[in-house]
Amino acid sequence: MSNKKEPMVINEKPGRKLYCLCGKTKNPPYCDGSHETTDVDGPFEMNIESETEVKICTCGQTSNPPFCDGTHQNC
Ligand code: FES
Repeated sequence: MSNKKEPMVINEKPGRKLYCLCGKTKNPPYCDGSHETTDVDGPFEMNIESETEVKICTCGQTSNPPFCDGTHQNC
């Protein structure tokens, strides 16, 4: 059995998105304000122009947070 993590794949609707970067949110992958108790400055903000697929890293090893860059395949 593999312990490899996979990215969270979301079909995002257009609009302003705030993705958690601190790992403390109770509403992953979105910011819920929990970073205020950490030394992380804030969420990653992105404006989605049209419906699109987004892959969010869940392994913590990506070099492009909050997005998956495929590094999980080597974990
Ligand atoms: S889940 Fe793909 S790089 Fe982390």
